[in-house]
Amino acid sequence: MKIVSVVGARPQFIKAAPVSRVLRQDYTEVLVHTGQHYDHNMSALFFEELDIPEPDYNLGIGSGPHGQQTGRMLEAIERVLLDEQPDWVLVYGDTNSTLAGALAAVKLHIRVAHVEAGLRSFNRRMPEEHNRILTDHAADLLLCPTQTAVENLAREGITQDVHNVGDVMYDAVLHNIGVAEKHSTVLERLALEPGGYLLATVHRAENTDDPARLAAIVEAFGAIAEPIVFPAHPRTRSALAAFKLSVPANVRLIEPVGYLDMLLLENHARVILTDSGGVQKEAYFFDVPCVTLREETEWVETVEAGWNRVVGTVPGRVTSAVRELSPVGSPPAVFGDGRASERISEIIGEWKG
Ligand code: UD1
Ligand code: UDP
Repeated sequence: MKIVSVVGARPQFIKAAPVSRVLRQDYTEVLVHTGQHYDHNMSALFFEELDIPEPDYNLGIGSGPHGQQTGRMLEAIERVLLDEQPDWVLVYGDTNSTLAGALAAVKLHIRVAHVEAGLRSFNRRMPEEHNRILTDHAADLLLCPTQTAVENLAREGITQDVHNVGDVMYDAVLHNIGVAEKHSTVLERLALEPGGYLLATVHRAENTDDPARLAAIVEAFGAIAEPIVFPAHPRTRSALAAFKLSVPANVRLIEPVGYLDMLLLENHARVILTDSGGVQKEAYFFDVPCVTLREETEWVETVEAGWNRVVGTVPGRVTSAVRELSPVGSPPAVFGDGRASERISEIIGEWKG
């Protein structure tokens, strides 16, 4: 059996790493990198650190407006699929690379498996929400990370070939945290004490493209008045410059870090502030309280368990959440058992259609 896996953005490299490792034991995998992310520390670094095989195709699409970027990917992925004639196309998450991969496949009557199916923010202004809904409705196999995702799909009438396999990002964390603890020197490099700093990431369009929201985030970080390490996505760095916003003295703005450094920074942070999907979950995996700089989250389990508070960007709300959030005990295991990748491989192998 031949599977074409389509990746393109940072979190997809991380999700594909454990899945790829398992798939290659039994099947032929052809890896396609759309080139959506391309800076060394947004792309190649993850392939090196996570031991992901070199992509068989790098489509080099790069950045651009949604229609142009997705359209160029669609055209290029179609050419690959015509050449490779795979049995399956595997897509991850909710980026433009996900949608382009799914659309290219269904047009050629090639089966689509969607990893991280069924997530919903119920906010149609998010580009990711369109990508998820369209991909889920095109997919033949829906590989959900949580029971909530299964239920979201059922509400849209999708009940066939839906599986709660667990979260592949949890597989990735379990596989890599030991390596990170042993080899990453990020705490020494940044002169940080475990528990002595907060970690922040911001990259969502709704925050970076709105000067008022980005300014509010910067103001909130300043008001927290504790050391905050802030590895900034290139889009955020550009937006800070474009809106002439400078970060307060307690904020250490750094380049995006590799996955191993990131895991270590997360594991030893006192609190994490983020608008990232993946980072909210990793905070949960590491028992670190998370303050989410958005109006809603797809990862509702983390909120229900008391480990995540969704506060938006109003500085007063952000600072009180940082002050008040102190969950007790350990968060319930709602993201599977670290064997989601194995389950995905088995389900694809056993699929009868
Ligand atoms: C994309 C995904 C988002 C995901 C995020 C993960 C879509 C619509 N959005 O958002 O769901 O959470 O990836 O990080 O697919 N840039 C660089 N170098 C790079 C990559 C990007 O400088 O290597 C800059 C460019 O100015 C680009 C901007 O970042 O225009 C945005 O990149 P893009 O891939 O369009 O969206 P993300 O914000 O990264
Ligand atoms: N990440 C990383 N370095 C960074 C920021 C994030 O390795 O500087 C990792 C993070 O640990 C998580 C993933 O990237 O595994 C999340 O990706 P991102 O926040 O870009 O996208 P999202 O999850 O919101 O789609």
